[in-house]
Amino acid sequence: MPESIADEKHLEILRLLKRANGRYVSGQTISKGVKVSRAAIWKHVSALRKYGYKIESKEGSGYKLIKSTDQLLPWEIKPSLKTHFVGKNIHHYHVIDSTQDLAIKLAENNAPEGTVVVAEKQKRGRARIGRRWAAPEGGIWLSIVLKPKIPTAESTILPLVASLAVGNAIRKECRLDAKLKWPNDVTINGKKACGILVEMSCEADKVNYVVIGIGVNANVNVKKLETIIKNTEGYYGATSLMKELGAKVDRLNLTRRILAELEEKYVDLEEEGSEIIINAWKERSATLGTTVTVALNEMCFVGRAIDIDYDGALLVKLPDGNIKRIVAGDVYVRTVKSKT
Ligand code: BTN
Repeated sequence: MPESIADEKHLEILRLLKRANGRYVSGQTISKGVKVSRAAIWKHVSALRKYGYKIESKEGSGYKLIKSTDQLLPWEIKPSLKTHFVGKNIHHYHVIDSTQDLAIKLAENNAPEGTVVVAEKQKRGRARIGRRWAAPEGGIWLSIVLKPKIPTAESTILPLVASLAVGNAIRKECRLDAKLKWPNDVTINGKKACGILVEMSCEADKVNYVVIGIGVNANVNVKKLETIIKNTEGYYGATSLMKELGAKVDRLNLTRRILAELEEKYVDLEEEGSEIIINAWKERSATLGTTVTVALNEMCFVGRAIDIDYDGALLVKLPDGNIKRIVAGDVYVRTVKSKT
């Protein structure tokens, strides 16, 4: 499916219908206001319906907007988006293989910082460690291009920046007790509600670009998700915001909030350094203080998660008292449930 591009006539008709506040707008008014023929209105209205707008038409009365869309369309997100650069460019697709792959392509072609790719569903969503990410309709699947002015060695903090931002957005928008599981999951009641994938292109001393992929199980059916992912190694249970709330979330508001929180935390990192991020992350941590299993390639060990290092690494105390630094990468960390 092609990218959703704002057609000026569609948007003008939409503006007229929205302004009418649930009342009919006659074909004549639309035709005069938007300067299209009466016959062409029908074509534009059909296109708007494909974007999820519920529009009623009645002979002799005209057209009435019954319900706006909940699709994450650029022209719906942008007007009340409170950011300076994140989301100024948004590419929306109904279906895509992976928002991450397209965002990487755009970054390679010098897309401006803050460019966002978002889709209603992904056919080949990617997760960490080469795994598959189930991304049916109802979720928030997006990738953001950033160009941090930080040394490559410090980029390991970025997953924590992103998970902190998404956790904050969910807390504020949905009033749910979102916690952070190292390095980059957001959990609710111990189950995964969001996964984050950070990929980058860098040189020895400088980062060219970073693409932060965010997958939020917003209004997805958890049972459907489980059938796809329950046998994945490291799986510890999935949930959705809809399941936790018992009602659908407003995906447009939550998306705006995620973009705004991400920009805020990212600017904090660039201006003030990693300490402010780590302290805030620790306050919401679901990992610190728990006994964890760390699986790294063929190796696996158990220890107590005691702290986060200056660069985002997890510090794990082994049974012999030694402390091991775990850097996010090809590892998964699982809290060991106590038997009491
Ligand atoms: C993980 O938990 O391992 C990370 C999952 C990241 C999923 C998101 S959805 C949007 C973006 N596009 C992708 O293909 N993956 C990320």
